[in-house]
Amino acid sequence: GLMSEQWRPQIHFTPKAQWMNDPNGMVYHDGEYHLFYQYHPNSNVWGPMHWGHAISEDLIHWEHLPIGLYPDSLGTIFSGSAVADVDNTSGFGKNGKTPLVAVYTNHSHEKESEGRIDYQTQSIAYSLDNGRTWTKYEKNPVLDNPGIRDFRDPKVRWHEPTQKWIMTLAVKDRVSFYSSPDLKEWTFESSFAQDEEHNGVVECPDLFPLNYNGQEKWVLFISLNPGFLHGGSGTKYYIGEFDGKEFIPDDPNAPTHWFDYGKDNYAGVTWSNIPEEDGRTLFIGWMSNWQYATVVPTEQWRSAMTLPRSLELVEGAGGKPVLKGEVVNTIENIAGDWQEKSDLPVAAAEAGTLEFSFEEDAAYQLSLEFDIQMDATATIDLYNEAGDSIFITLDKNRELVVFDRIDSGETTFNENFPGKYDAPVAFEGPVKVDLYVDQSSVEMFINGGKVQMTNLVFPETLLTGVEIYGSGDSQLITAKARVLNSIWK
Ligand code: FRU
Repeated sequence: GLMSEQWRPQIHFTPKAQWMNDPNGMVYHDGEYHLFYQYHPNSNVWGPMHWGHAISEDLIHWEHLPIGLYPDSLGTIFSGSAVADVDNTSGFGKNGKTPLVAVYTNHSHEKESEGRIDYQTQSIAYSLDNGRTWTKYEKNPVLDNPGIRDFRDPKVRWHEPTQKWIMTLAVKDRVSFYSSPDLKEWTFESSFAQDEEHNGVVECPDLFPLNYNGQEKWVLFISLNPGFLHGGSGTKYYIGEFDGKEFIPDDPNAPTHWFDYGKDNYAGVTWSNIPEEDGRTLFIGWMSNWQYATVVPTEQWRSAMTLPRSLELVEGAGGKPVLKGEVVNTIENIAGDWQEKSDLPVAAAEAGTLEFSFEEDAAYQLSLEFDIQMDATATIDLYNEAGDSIFITLDKNRELVVFDRIDSGETTFNENFPGKYDAPVAFEGPVKVDLYVDQSSVEMFINGGKVQMTNLVFPETLLTGVEIYGSGDSQLITAKARVLNSIWK
């Protein structure tokens, strides 16, 4: 049935039907987390964009709502953000009701077909009924196109020190910052150009503060297509200072920080208006890659979001800050009891199977801890009866983890899908690996999320088998798993 077809994610957000890409307009208001998304209601491939809409009280269970924003005379509705205008700076509020204001890109296909390049402009709409219905501002667009082909994806936040709204905008090969007192009049502040090694187009940027060792730092997210480390689209970030005008990276010569080393986490940004007493910085990404997103082997719907993650800046290798992402703790709401293994089979170079009881039509979390010495490796093989497998190998000498999905099931729909993808790992003591395994994805978090890796897989059935093997002096220290029940039941 619906929401239980082959490969239908059971613990990830998907639209009931048709095409989805980027998450949009994420804002928390009145006990509801809003998730809008790039949506094409008439087809399972990309087309004229709308904002689909869903809400959640725990970021885990989602309720599908009617489409939030439809195309209009200025164009279709590309990516953007939403804020709760609690001080009614926009004047859209009435009778003390806080307006939710969406800031998005209008893409004029009409202008584009006339051969013009100024077809992307920024517009706003507001809602006085908790995002259920929206009114577009009569003076749209609020930010006209200056003659630049790629001019989109506004991400807006309130900047307390300057008492202004800041818009972070993707502008071709750079990010531009604009400011506004009221979300209607926007003033250019500055641009931040990324380093030259990447020649893709910048998309869906985000700028947000995080605490690092008691100090405020600003993180700038840049989604890049193409130009990702492992091909296609991916997201990198910079750490630095922001004064309401300019972003200055702390270390302009730092090697590229990739947010997620898997192939399938793109265009992700953070939620607006998380209450101060909560204090979390919450993220969700689009779980696909533009290399093959339109041809993945699902029919009823196409694409899912990643699991929502909480972000923090922590000390990484060499005492440098690193952005860590962990699955939000409300995952507990769907978790079964931990099944813990005591007699661990794997010592040096010995293979062993870990028997857990999983549900074929649900998902699960697997949590393993290894002690790996020099010249040693440890491999996790997740498999099914159909002979599909993924292999995750921790390699101490190379200080890497490698995720191999070459034999993971259906892989032939695009030549860029099968492959082995690596990520740097600091082996400073035991290595903890957490895997969230759903019907068509595996999300890996190493050492509490210091390394994140999100990959799609299309196995015949859920990969419920767990085999561990190693070479050299590697030891499995702890092993536990638990069922994650479907969010749709
Ligand atoms: C990123 C993106 C955005 C754009 C949207 C269109 O995936 O290309 O830059 O606004 O998708 O659907």
